[in-house]
Amino acid sequence: MVLELRHVARRFGGLVAVSDLSMTVARGTIHGLIGPNGAGKSTVFNLISGILPTSSGQVLFNGDAISGLAPSEICRRGVARTFQATTLFREFTVLQNLLVAAQLRAAHGLAPTLFASAGYRQKEHEALASAHEVLASLGLGGSAQARRPVDQLSHREQKALGIAMAIVTGAELVLLDEPLAGLTAQEREETLRVVRQLRDRRVTILLVEHDMRAVMGLCDIVTVLDHGVRIAEGTPRAIQENPAVIEAYLGAEERA
Ligand SMILES: Nc1ncnc2c1ncn2[C@@H]1O[C@H](COP(=O)(O)OP(=O)(O)OP(=O)(O)O)[C@@H](O)[C@H]1O
Ligand SMILES: [Mg+2]
Repeated sequence: MVLELRHVARRFGGLVAVSDLSMTVARGTIHGLIGPNGAGKSTVFNLISGILPTSSGQVLFNGDAISGLAPSEICRRGVARTFQATTLFREFTVLQNLLVAAQLRAAHGLAPTLFASAGYRQKEHEALASAHEVLASLGLGGSAQARRPVDQLSHREQKALGIAMAIVTGAELVLLDEPLAGLTAQEREETLRVVRQLRDRRVTILLVEHDMRAVMGLCDIVTVLDHGVRIAEGTPRAIQENPAVIEAYLGAEERA
């Protein structure tokens, strides 16, 4: 088990954004987390990555409690995330962004001597090599590309870089928040290929995505949230046929 949530809750004033959520994510899987707008999906990501403290309950990563740790420490332990809106250092180049991400994992809690060790440099070298590979598969690979400032990249390229940044941290678990949002059909295909590549590297993926065809095609297992409550979990096929899930989505449509 890579990740376990035990009775996790998060309140914002009187609003219960996540309510008594328990779930486990198995190593090497693509685990979908879906639900109508406002269901609490991004909040769950914020709780796992330490951006928000839990109101109650526990998050465990590789069996260790990580609730209450700083986001940088959680990242260092091997949890990376991308954001629903791209958050890149816009004036930096592609490569500079990747280096920042690589250091995010390496820089915290390591003695300076270890930092300079051959082992560390080897790891950094490997991380950058794999990031370059991912960038290449996304058409961002050449050295001229790597020197482009991020604010000159297309929306798709920025999202690709966001994923590459998550990879370069050497993460075991990557949280992807709507990686396909705002992309054209072809861009979606390219991004899906990257997500599969991540999985093939044995990286575990927790995926929030509104594109149901993509979710159903990619995920090994899907957890469904509605109003902060887990209403279903199962294979994509079982989820699609689950009356409570259909009702939650139809209800959300009617309210909209
Ligand atoms: N920082 C915050 N302060 C107050 N309320 C918040 C905060 N973050 C989220 N919420 C509220 O918590 C609920 C869940 O929001 P969240 O962003 O987790 O939903 P979501 O499932 O990611 O939705 P979407 O599919 O639209 O991205 C919403 O009602 C939202 O308004
Ligand atoms: Mg969200």
